[in-house]
Amino acid sequence: MAGTVLSPANPSQLCSSRSAIFSASPKGLTRTHQLAVVREKGMKVKCQATSVPADDRVPDMEKRNLLNLLLLGALSLPTAGMLVPYGSFLAPPGSGGGGGGTIAKDAVGNDVIAEQWLKEHNPGDRTLTQGLKGDPTYLVVEKDRTLATYGINAVCTHLGCVVPWNTAENKFLCPCHGSQYNDQGRVVRGPAPLSLALAHCDIDDGKVVFVPWTETDFRTGDAPWWA
Ligand code: FES
Repeated sequence: MAGTVLSPANPSQLCSSRSAIFSASPKGLTRTHQLAVVREKGMKVKCQATSVPADDRVPDMEKRNLLNLLLLGALSLPTAGMLVPYGSFLAPPGSGGGGGGTIAKDAVGNDVIAEQWLKEHNPGDRTLTQGLKGDPTYLVVEKDRTLATYGINAVCTHLGCVVPWNTAENKFLCPCHGSQYNDQGRVVRGPAPLSLALAHCDIDDGKVVFVPWTETDFRTGDAPWWA
């Protein structure tokens, strides 16, 4: 408790304070007894008195608040610095296509340019690109040398193997347990229980963009199981 050591030159004034503490007081005496002893003996006493009200005894609240703010700022900055990389890690990669789609990436990670792609891939071609959430997704070149409006997710619906395209069979044949899918990715032989997932395939500013497919599966007439 902060206190002020007052000058002993005027003890009667000093000791009139209700909060006076007598440094010369014998232990065990009440304050009334102490005052009586002082008066009787004419002792000169040295008093310690607190002149502040009890409610103001917390020292320097403004400084405390300032230190708390500084501490909060010091903790917040590094915390925010750690959250930014986590947030970017959790965000879907490759976002940036129109309408929230994902720009398709080729085998070396470059954006797929539709015109260039169609020059290098023949009708009927199905070649893997990187699609939504990084999933391997086939781009389909139609017989009229245009890109199909859908991409086919290559992840097998049985246990998740990547299903290769077999040109000779005109099917997707899973090497893991023998599931087969037709040229649009519809399952034609198990054990895979479902057809391969679809994604919309759009062209935005010349680049191929995959967009989540939430409508009816045109191959089965069913609601999309993957949505
Ligand atoms: S993972 Fe494709 S058939 Fe089993």
